[in-house]
Amino acid sequence: MIRINENFTKLKASYLFSDIAKRVAAYASAHPDKPIIRLGIGDVTEPLPPACVSALHAATDEMAARDTFRGYGPEQGYPFLREAIAAHDYAARGCAIEADEIFVSDGAKCDSGNIQEIFGADIRLAIPDPVYPVYVDTNVMAGRTGANIDDRYEGITYLDCTPANRYVPAIPDTPTDLIYLCFPNNPTGAVATRDQLAAWVAYAREHRAIILYDSAYEAFIRDPQIPHSIYEIEGAREVAIEFRSFSKIAGFTGTRCAYTVVPKSLHAYDSAGAPHSVHALWNRRHTTKFNGVAYPIQRAAAAVYSAEGQQQTRALTEFYLGNAKLIRSRLESLGLPCIGGDNAPYIWINTGTDSWAFFDKLLNEAQVVCTPGAGFGKCGEGHVRISAFNSRENVETALDRIAKALAS
Ligand code: MLT
Repeated sequence: MIRINENFTKLKASYLFSDIAKRVAAYASAHPDKPIIRLGIGDVTEPLPPACVSALHAATDEMAARDTFRGYGPEQGYPFLREAIAAHDYAARGCAIEADEIFVSDGAKCDSGNIQEIFGADIRLAIPDPVYPVYVDTNVMAGRTGANIDDRYEGITYLDCTPANRYVPAIPDTPTDLIYLCFPNNPTGAVATRDQLAAWVAYAREHRAIILYDSAYEAFIRDPQIPHSIYEIEGAREVAIEFRSFSKIAGFTGTRCAYTVVPKSLHAYDSAGAPHSVHALWNRRHTTKFNGVAYPIQRAAAAVYSAEGQQQTRALTEFYLGNAKLIRSRLESLGLPCIGGDNAPYIWINTGTDSWAFFDKLLNEAQVVCTPGAGFGKCGEGHVRISAFNSRENVETALDRIAKALAS
């Protein structure tokens, strides 16, 4: 008799954003006359930058001619894209990252979910709360946790992010092995200072731990003091893996392209204490389970680094940050404490009330979709997240509707 992986039975019935989509779809079918504005899942609304579209067309034409057609590409990504990433995203910021330390993929969600597979089943996890649910759920699937008791899995060291610490977690006072950090943060929009990141790097070095640093939202950073990459911190090459994505900077949520940086100086240990190259392990996993991102998509991603691409993607992030500013100032004027929105496309609102009840109120009375904080973890209760990804017109309408609903 075939048996299931029983770790899956420890998970909540559905993934947070699928759960929300189901509730919204039910509301929409019951109220077809009420147009809904979606500020829930962080999905972009503006079209691809023209530089990316031209590159996509040109590369598609190459695929249509025998002389320029390409079949399988390198699983890790074409050199033209890996080199552009190394030069623009790392060398230009003084980070010593080589092109062959970059693994191009179809998403930071997949990479941040898959990476845990190369580590031991009994490692100790440190995961922020609230958090992007993928980090927790993939470790539950892998059997690294016990049961979920009172909205927390046994076996995880939770890093509380609360108003008291401005949503940047303190370093745990016990050793852990695999630490998930995300800045600018999803869901809170908080950013970490250079000193805060340096303290995490020092902790990881002390405990021979690894930091998984998700910086999918780095293009939204406007404060010049805030690091864009963990590798801006000295010593991080020995303890950190970084995830980045073209989704939010260049509108690739539907097009799919991202990358993960695994320095060759990073090691993890076997049960006898012998070091192993994490780069070699990830390369082995990646080449076994992944056949590369489509050539035209990689060409479109590389166009982000052209002069026009840089200017156009900057305009895109400026546009969404303009929405974020409107959202944050309007909600603050309604007396709701908020963070985020200044270096991130998310605004984290401390409603002080049950977050699913607040979600329902906005859906039923304003036809606006937000994300209930409780969906991101226990510390998310009492909060909701509003995304800045939508048209200006929809954001303005949504804010008017929210103000009316909250006044009633
Ligand atoms: C979010 O809304 O948190 C993100 O869109 C999820 C993702 O990027 O997978």
